[in-house]
Amino acid sequence: PVPPSLGFPGIGFESVPPSLAPVADRVTVPQGYTVQAFVCWGDPIAPGGKNFIGDASETAADQALQFGTHNDGMHFFPIGEGSDRGVLCVNNEYTHEEILFPDGQVGSGYTIAKTRKSQTAHGVSVLEARRIRGNWTVNARSRYGRKITSNTPMAISGPAAGHALMQTVEFTITDAASVPTGGTTDGRVVYGTVNNCAHGYTPWGTYLTCEENFNGNFGGTGAVDTSTGTEIGKLNRRYGISAGGFGYRWHTTDPRWDVSTNPNEPHLFGWIVEIDPFNPNSTPVKRTALGRFKHESVQYVVDADSRIAFYMGDDERNEYIYKYVARRKYNAQRKFLNRGLLDDGTLYVARFDADGTGAWLPLVPGTVGVDGVALRDNPNFAGADDAEVQAKILIKTRMAADAVGATMMDRPEWTGARPRIDGFQEIEVYCTLTNNNRRGTNTPSVNAADGSTAAGSARPPVDAANPREDNDYGHIIRWRENGRSVAATSFTWDLFVQAGDSQTAKAPLPTNDYKGNIVADPAGSADYGAPDGLWFDDFGRLWVQTDQSGDASGDWVNIGANCMVCADPNTGTTRRFLTAPPNAEVTGVTMTPDGKTMFVGLQHPGEDSTAANPTQFSNWPQSQWAVKADGVTALPGGRPRSSVVVVTKDDGGIIGS
Ligand code: FEO
Ligand code: CA
Ligand code: CA
Ligand code: CA
Repeated sequence: PVPPSLGFPGIGFESVPPSLAPVADRVTVPQGYTVQAFVCWGDPIAPGGKNFIGDASETAADQALQFGTHNDGMHFFPIGEGSDRGVLCVNNEYTHEEILFPDGQVGSGYTIAKTRKSQTAHGVSVLEARRIRGNWTVNARSRYGRKITSNTPMAISGPAAGHALMQTVEFTITDAASVPTGGTTDGRVVYGTVNNCAHGYTPWGTYLTCEENFNGNFGGTGAVDTSTGTEIGKLNRRYGISAGGFGYRWHTTDPRWDVSTNPNEPHLFGWIVEIDPFNPNSTPVKRTALGRFKHESVQYVVDADSRIAFYMGDDERNEYIYKYVARRKYNAQRKFLNRGLLDDGTLYVARFDADGTGAWLPLVPGTVGVDGVALRDNPNFAGADDAEVQAKILIKTRMAADAVGATMMDRPEWTGARPRIDGFQEIEVYCTLTNNNRRGTNTPSVNAADGSTAAGSARPPVDAANPREDNDYGHIIRWRENGRSVAATSFTWDLFVQAGDSQTAKAPLPTNDYKGNIVADPAGSADYGAPDGLWFDDFGRLWVQTDQSGDASGDWVNIGANCMVCADPNTGTTRRFLTAPPNAEVTGVTMTPDGKTMFVGLQHPGEDSTAANPTQFSNWPQSQWAVKADGVTALPGGRPRSSVVVVTKDDGGIIGS
């Protein structure tokens, strides 16, 4: 076993071996643990929901009462005391349209019915989880059951709400059509959420869902402005809005998503959305004070002075790490007083300096950019007053971060905060930097000061915080806030680990080392790459989940399929806990308060399969189990299903112990 140390309780399990090619169509966990399917795409989660059929013939109306697909970040909110019952909020990031429909995306034709089903499979699944006679089950008749979709009415709050850039074509939405009313919205309302990647939660009991690759769901039936000379054109370039998007066809049947006729709609996405998990009639709220970018996840920390900050990454090549600090203090006694904390505060972006220190740069009108011009005098953010300047800074967060000289990172994914327990008192926050293939060749460049650089197109030189020029395997950075204050404007940082394949024969570039420096115990047993999910449990164990190509080929021939590892934050000592089925990513992890039940997400098993052969690469979870964790519900085959699994320790102990 890995022994305990300051603020870390040790690792008691033996590593599972890597799942090498051909990748077995199953999830593996260590000896002494049991893994079972808990909830899968298409399972009923709300009253009236139908059981999954198996051939994807469900309609959008059926999907509206079922678990969405491509689940990602999630959090377990206990109901009452104890660890046997809770509301599980689970993000549904995106759809694989060839698996979502019986005839694939195009098949016998693309229709509004397909758009509506895809929009309904996106979003957030809210469900009641409970343990009955030892078996975890979804209460499909629960009053908490709710599917939040890309059409759920939401409010917009904070400094950017109501700004002209947030005012869009107004629509009446039905199952059959989205019809313009002839009016314009007030910039304070939006339908739905998309690309709900990872997540966060608040100490006042709400769930936060993060909108990541929202640009991909938009398209244009006509010309889309991507010029460098207009405000919309620069926004579209910097956020990656294009006529083709990621190949979704929503815009061809739902004009709300057609940016050639509704150019402001993308500005309503790329935010963090707050959801009350205990009130299924509540209206989710997009909190603009936390900035607009490709939000991966959000992690809060409350310091000893009751200040509260939220740490966030923008997952695209060479984007930034942010924190938001609420102006007022957190009130642990009177939780209803905290409702406004996410609307009134300061957004900062991180600069990592070569000497191991760093600065949080405030994205406010008076901050002077690297060009010597205050943001309020920069034409990108100019407004009638500082309130309007602040609104534009938030809508164009990426450009503001460019202007102040933040450090371009190797794709910031999840942030996680180390618990302050057992004598460990630092405010120490970690962020996965998953990989980057656009850094450090012969033509270094950075994002243009005028905000016109297309998303992900710059190629900066390597730096101390991002030291590998072809960062195939990624790394994890961490920082400690000065003065143990979340409001600090300076910090110290180091690299927790550079991931890699210790057995690789790949010839290193001058500034690269593909072998990495993972401290495996026993040696060689825990290589991984492309760290993405990152989470500290309440006991001090660090869990890291990976997102690489899932077929164990090429760079992954020794590392195998995607996995989840457990690490000691003091020594870096790492063991492999779980491996994924073929072409699946491991993403999303949460526990019951007693630490004895862990929920883990498996996303996109069998990715890249075709409509003609949906089980070409995987038929998981049916390939592994005949029934779900409840011991009763059959798991029909026919196509792979993104799922949440439940992991327990056979001796009833804490997971990882
Ligand atoms: Fe949806 Fe950056 O992962
Ligand atoms: Ca991710
Ligand atoms: Ca990823
Ligand atoms: Ca993914």
